[in-house]
Amino acid sequence: MALCMAGQALAHPDPDHGPTVPPWQSASPWPDRVVVTFAGDPARTLAVSWRTDASVPITRAQIARATADARFDLAATSETARTEPLDPTQIALAGQMFDVPQNAGLAPVHYHSVLFNGLEPDTLYAYRVQGAENRWSEWFQVRTAPVGGPVTFLYMGDAQNGILSHWSRTVRAAYAAAPDARFIIHAGDMVNTGSRDYEWAQWFKAVGFIHGMVPAVPVAGNHEYSRISASPVEQRRALSQLWRPQWRLPEVAELAEDLRETVYEVRYSEDLHVFVLDTMGGDLVAQAAWLDARLEASDARWRVATFHHPVFSSGSERDDVRRRDILLPVLRKHDVDLVLQGHDHTYARGGLTQSPERASGPAAEGAIGPMFVNSVSGPKQYVWREAGWTDYAAQGVELQRRAENTQFFQVVRIDDGRLSYEAWTADGQLYDAFALDKDNDGTKRLVDATPATAERRFSNTAPYDGDTD
Ligand SMILES: [Fe+2]
Repeated sequence: MALCMAGQALAHPDPDHGPTVPPWQSASPWPDRVVVTFAGDPARTLAVSWRTDASVPITRAQIARATADARFDLAATSETARTEPLDPTQIALAGQMFDVPQNAGLAPVHYHSVLFNGLEPDTLYAYRVQGAENRWSEWFQVRTAPVGGPVTFLYMGDAQNGILSHWSRTVRAAYAAAPDARFIIHAGDMVNTGSRDYEWAQWFKAVGFIHGMVPAVPVAGNHEYSRISASPVEQRRALSQLWRPQWRLPEVAELAEDLRETVYEVRYSEDLHVFVLDTMGGDLVAQAAWLDARLEASDARWRVATFHHPVFSSGSERDDVRRRDILLPVLRKHDVDLVLQGHDHTYARGGLTQSPERASGPAAEGAIGPMFVNSVSGPKQYVWREAGWTDYAAQGVELQRRAENTQFFQVVRIDDGRLSYEAWTADGQLYDAFALDKDNDGTKRLVDATPATAERRFSNTAPYDGDTD
């Protein structure tokens, strides 16, 4: 949707909810949109961000070790928040401000964040955040990362549409299925119009308390960027003005400014390293070079890459040769274990044969390389590409499970030399499963556990209506 330059007429209200803003969208002196993220060592730090109206110029958060004592909070320490004002009706691109018509009439807000430091690994903490004086959130419990050992995490594809009406059930089912999940990867297109506050309000209402307790690992997709008419002939895309204020993420100094907080890594534990790219923004070649260097330096047993646009497409007419040519050689070279993606509004899962670079000597018989997943958690669904993955045979990838017309969440567990993966439907049916067993020399074998249920396609599921909200 085109945005118009500052000073142009913006009088029309948001068509989806008329002239009134729902109460759960409006900021107040009370804290809302509380979200935990990683911005430092996950075993020793926790980042928390929240929002208030602009009447709260300075505020703080508190943290204590969670104990069985009812008054665990008496031992709490305080941290002054970093506060940044945001006018949601404006978005910046290349130093120029543009109006965001969808947010017309919304008041300026304040985003606050803290980075709790000096924490103990694998320890349950309770924190709360304040708005105006004495207006506190509840105490949220969250566990720091372990130094090593088993870890469970969740991964979800595009939420994007019907976020409150239809996506909420998927993210809540995910939390109910894996309450021990240490974080949730959201692989981009978390909303449909990244600059539109109403959709983020839906997103935060849908997750409720979940991201107060389970850290989020957000990935920027194409819909986190908004098209701006910078001139009558030129359209450019700007990252949502809400992205950087609303969650505190790692900042990578060696990358360009426009990739700040959309390209980052989370070394979660000795065993698990997560790399996040921004396939919509900035220089993808530079991102691939950064990924190559960071993977080279990583000694984690399990390495996961996540980004929005899939290397191997599963939606019709969406194949992306340019991005594949840039990213696939790096993923293959370092034998990244899992590649978690979105964008194609279908489900696909398949693996590469083991890379010759990784194998010491000839590739072991039956060994497998990176496993690729495209998934979708929201209600917008596309048709599978006609060729399946047969035309990707030259790249050595083999499709193992696919679906249409289905909202999914994924549970991934790592435990020593085994990675287990499960894809679940929103109503709690196991649809896809496998494990990877990794030897000490890095050789991996696939343990197939795909349920013997029918492939879900439009042709054998309930009638689909694309309009959802
Ligand atoms: Fe997308």
